[in-house]
Amino acid sequence: MNIYELLRPILFSLPPEWAHQLTLNALRWYGYLPAKRNTVSSTIDVGGLHVVNRVGLAAGFDKDGVAIRGLSKFNFGFLELGAVTPRGQQGNSRPRVFRLKNEFALINRLGFNNQGIDALIRKIVNEKPRVCVPIGINIGKNFDTPLEQAIDDYEYCFVRANSLVDFVTINISSPNTPGVRELQGMQYVQNLLARLVRLRDSSTTNNQKRTLLLAKISPDLSEQELEGVCTTVRSEGIDGIIATNTTTTRPNENGEQYKGGLSGRPLFPLALNCVRQARSFLGEGFLLVGCGGIWDVASATKMREAGADLIQLYTGLVYHGPRCLREITLVE
Ligand SMILES: Cc1cc2nc3c(=O)[nH]c(=O)nc-3n(C[C@H](O)[C@H](O)[C@H](O)COP(=O)(O)O)c2cc1C
Repeated sequence: MNIYELLRPILFSLPPEWAHQLTLNALRWYGYLPAKRNTVSSTIDVGGLHVVNRVGLAAGFDKDGVAIRGLSKFNFGFLELGAVTPRGQQGNSRPRVFRLKNEFALINRLGFNNQGIDALIRKIVNEKPRVCVPIGINIGKNFDTPLEQAIDDYEYCFVRANSLVDFVTINISSPNTPGVRELQGMQYVQNLLARLVRLRDSSTTNNQKRTLLLAKISPDLSEQELEGVCTTVRSEGIDGIIATNTTTTRPNENGEQYKGGLSGRPLFPLALNCVRQARSFLGEGFLLVGCGGIWDVASATKMREAGADLIQLYTGLVYHGPRCLREITLVE
């Protein structure tokens, strides 16, 4: 039995959000310990991202970058922080995270609770010199920004993050902020992506590293909608897709009493299917990150075989701790 298996019953006796705060605090303190730091011997270039292995931390785990140094001491190939919005905001009222223990799943309706992009940028400026894995930021819009002005929020966040991080994820798939998923529709998506690419290209100087722009999509898109998003993403010059965010469906009919996005094992078949379809629409050689319900070597391998170049974990870590990361990175 490892340490996490001993700690998990204690963590699971607490409300999920408390348990998460406790975990993040422990990771923050772990970061200050003079323990070994992962020094990078070699990296692989995956679609322009120089990762130490193909397994990353998914967005939402460390929204405000409070534990960057601690997290970087684990085996992650890359870290995605956020989601952040231009202004800090409280998010939805509590309780807003629920465990479906029998299904190894979570349902959350946090609603982009975060301290704002500027607070996150300050943390990254402090920590980056000590961290040797690529860092990305997941960006969204404030809950009270009208959909017609959402682009301004994404541009605001991008400008602050640009040149400081390795990639920026355009979150157009969170189910917990009204309107965000509508940004995947043809009415908005082309303009949003085109403006961010233009902003990135015009602000990148010759001797400066180009910040990758990734779009994170929902597992609940129809095949036709997915094809539309993939075509737009490619034609507008976005560098990659992360598939997927959480689902508002309840594949096993459990958790119907909770509103919000479902993650963990029941999401896996949906995310896998989305990655497979996205790969067929995007063709080879376009960066595709698989995320959703990965928790062991078999699920990671299936996601890679479906076409994912990189993978990300969140809920698997909550249920299985760092062991699942270690096991997967042994083969990735
Ligand atoms: C509590 C919680 C908060 C999340 N917050 C975000 C977020 O802020 N931005 C985002 O793009 N995804 C967020 N996600 C989605 C994850 O990044 C990931 O896409 C999803 O959970 C599927 O992966 P998993 O099954 O490995 O958890 C969140 C997930 C959970 C469980």
